[in-house]
Amino acid sequence: MKPKIFISQPVPEKVEQYLREHCEVKEWRGEDRIPRETLLQEIANVEGLLTAWHKIDEELLAAAPNLKVVSNVSVGYNNFDVEALRGRNVIGTNTPYVLDDTVADLTIALMLATARRIAELDQYVKAKKWEPVKDEALFFGVDVHHATIGIIGMGRIGEAVAQRAKFGFNMDVLYHNRSQKPEAEKKYEAEYCELPDLLRRADFVVMLTPLTEETHHLLGEQEFKQMKKSAIFVNVSRGQTVDELALITALQNGDIYGAGLDVFQKEPIEKDNPLLEMSNVVTVPHIGSATAQTREAMAMRAAQNIVSVLQGKGAIDPVYK
Ligand code: DGY
Repeated sequence: MKPKIFISQPVPEKVEQYLREHCEVKEWRGEDRIPRETLLQEIANVEGLLTAWHKIDEELLAAAPNLKVVSNVSVGYNNFDVEALRGRNVIGTNTPYVLDDTVADLTIALMLATARRIAELDQYVKAKKWEPVKDEALFFGVDVHHATIGIIGMGRIGEAVAQRAKFGFNMDVLYHNRSQKPEAEKKYEAEYCELPDLLRRADFVVMLTPLTEETHHLLGEQEFKQMKKSAIFVNVSRGQTVDELALITALQNGDIYGAGLDVFQKEPIEKDNPLLEMSNVVTVPHIGSATAQTREAMAMRAAQNIVSVLQGKGAIDPVYK
């Protein structure tokens, strides 16, 4: 008999086929995201759950006594209560490696879009406001090439950003990380810095650290004040790594030049969030890994994790040992 699993969100056909070969699959087919209560009912008899974003906590685990594995279609797994998973002997998995380049591409895109005011000037042209102007400085932005990037969180995605920054844009690379990375230092001529030093020196401060208790609100009022007034802040990690009110204040006070944001304190962002009114802020709806190719690769990796665990071979990408 095949093990029962539940898929809480759509996956590409190829991935669904693969899962059906190995498991008895039930999936959510509703128009909207599955409501929490329905999810709890659906997982009552399953051994595997393929999901993303849903809070995986004691309540959910208690509702699924047969559960052996929860596979997140995401590299970040801050939606997991890891201690609750460990306590119930349920394996949690994520999808590292397959999204590194795609997230790094978006990071660079946000740097460029903010520095060269792409979103703001796109709106200007499309609003049919483009007339001959006396002073072209109206359209000026700032250079990305040969500037200094400060990467907070030098994991695989951080390295993919460093590679693009160093070799694509001739940037000087500074980084801050839990531990020093001698290999990365060699490859990208990257310099390890304590956080205040990085903030003082970087033209682009790029947040790529996972959200943990240690990184929650890692940047707040004091940190934004330490940055250059010309600095551009880019966040592609999680909104909660930053005190968003402090970021808003820093932008309002001109403590920094602008921000490119993929992630927010609350997602979807509240309609009255002041960030939405700022022309020097570029916003996108948490699309770090959102390309068709990468999302398929992530879903397949998540599927392989489930199958591997349910076949007794262990997880490929366990989030705890
Ligand atoms: C992840 O996988 O954690 C990314 O945030 C998705 O874009």
